[in-house]
Amino acid sequence: MVPNIIFKKNNKEILVKEKSDKLTILEVAQNNGIEIEGACEGSLACSTCHIIVDKEWYNKLKEPSWDEEDMLDLATGLTVTSRLGCQIVLSKELDGLKVTLPSSKNDVRLNKNKY
Ligand code: FES
Repeated sequence: MVPNIIFKKNNKEILVKEKSDKLTILEVAQNNGIEIEGACEGSLACSTCHIIVDKEWYNKLKEPSWDEEDMLDLATGLTVTSRLGCQIVLSKELDGLKVTLPSSKNDVRLNKNKY
């Protein structure tokens, strides 16, 4: 069984039927024309892959690492179910996962002089 993911943006839902698991949410989005930037290509150096996981799914995910939490703190529009899309790897257990794309994002690499 391959996992299906529902991406939500601007009150629209886009169902993606991914052909393989072991991909990150960021990779799935980019493979299917869903607009998530992923500026650092998953190296935990930006927060442009910020997504908001539906509450019903959040506790089914593996805990975020400290590095992910540190980077999330710098994301725009942070919520209690925010995650970085490059850090969530698909599995069949995540079939039906729903995530929302924030309306704005923050690339911390561009703000180095502000801190
Ligand atoms: S792509 Fe940069 S932290 Fe996920």
